[in-house]
Amino acid sequence: MYLARGSSKLMLKPKTTQEVSEILAYCNSRCLAVTPQGGNTGLVGGSVPVFDEIVLSTSLMNDIIHLDKASGILVCQAGCILESLSTYLEDHDLIMPLDLGAKGSCQIGGNISTNAGGLRLLRYGSLRGNVLGIEAVLADGTIIDCLSTLRKDNTGYDLKNLFIGSEGTLGVVTAVSIQCPPKPKAVNLAFLGCSSYENVLATYSECKNNCAEILSAFEMMDLQSMKFVTTNLGLSNPLGECPFYVVVETSGSDAQHDEEKLNKFLEVVMEQQYVMDGTIATEPSKIYALWQLRERINESMMKSGVVYKYDISLPLDVYYDVVIETRQRLGDNVLGVVGYGHIGDGNLHLNAVAPTLNKTVSDLLEPFVYEWTAKHKGSISAEHGLGFNKRNYIYYSKSDAAVELMALMKAKMDPKCILNPYKTIPVCKPASKQ
Ligand code: MLT
Ligand code: ZN
Repeated sequence: MYLARGSSKLMLKPKTTQEVSEILAYCNSRCLAVTPQGGNTGLVGGSVPVFDEIVLSTSLMNDIIHLDKASGILVCQAGCILESLSTYLEDHDLIMPLDLGAKGSCQIGGNISTNAGGLRLLRYGSLRGNVLGIEAVLADGTIIDCLSTLRKDNTGYDLKNLFIGSEGTLGVVTAVSIQCPPKPKAVNLAFLGCSSYENVLATYSECKNNCAEILSAFEMMDLQSMKFVTTNLGLSNPLGECPFYVVVETSGSDAQHDEEKLNKFLEVVMEQQYVMDGTIATEPSKIYALWQLRERINESMMKSGVVYKYDISLPLDVYYDVVIETRQRLGDNVLGVVGYGHIGDGNLHLNAVAPTLNKTVSDLLEPFVYEWTAKHKGSISAEHGLGFNKRNYIYYSKSDAAVELMALMKAKMDPKCILNPYKTIPVCKPASKQ
């Protein structure tokens, strides 16, 4: 994996917000750097202690505080594991508004600190909309209680949004309140094969036309991604070899109605030859097996060596072009270049796999990928954050004035820079951008 290597002599595991506050007050008074850490599943080195930072793990802060069954608003501590929350909510006919491959170990506090996107964003929107309140502890130990459970609250600046996506650099998230949608009564999944990227887009348009209100995910993976999951994980491809695969999930309240809509959509895309092969699943076990093909791509590539990861947002008309150009550029220097992602959100995961870390490959990739993304008005980090690995590239997606304001906020909220140092805020502007 192409990530930061951790180094720390001390991990602290508080159980309460008060303990977090006492730890930070002490560390701040002694100028001791602290790296907040949830499930440590991030992909940009955001939760890694880079030098000798003290790790502040939220793993023991895993209490569910309250669930309002009528409104679906859940309040819990930051260390709750995403999958455990989902399991808990299922018993109350609710679901979490986010779902991602790392659900078995990632924690809700980490999801919020990184503003994680994932597979359901298309349907339920981002955490910035779903999180109603946050409790966080500032660098000096001050507890900020914004743990509101209100859908509407326009009293002053929206402080909670400062903590969402700031990767633990402004405060440690200790508790959250989040609105949870009803559990769908019917879920269907179609796993489809397309002969070209243009046909993937045409399939997406038809899908929105026919299934708009029940569409809950629209994901894309290319053949190269499929080869990694089948070869390295032994998963089986239910279809023949296709240049592109698409996962369409519908979630609704009436199985018959949803199936009819899905079938109508499938009829159109088959007739138009946008789709060359496909299978449908309604049983949970088959749905689960099909999702594995998409969710485990990241894990499958890591088995082959070093993975150079890029998580970018792009307009859909150029979305896959960067994969083609990167593949041509890297040629035989790598084992493969793959493209997959949340196409419904314009979020591409571009990954290059090499047997070992290789300067030729790094130099061919950077700043090429960032320049390409900026030129096409994309974002260099769609959902993974900047962390340690990407912080210096922020200028490709944000103006100088915006980065300066971020640095001012950081200096105001954490003047001694003890909170997750070396993350998010750039060290200096890259020469190419000066
Ligand atoms: C995914 O969508 O699978 C995750 O964001 C992880 C990845 O980038 O591979
Ligand atoms: Zn993703």
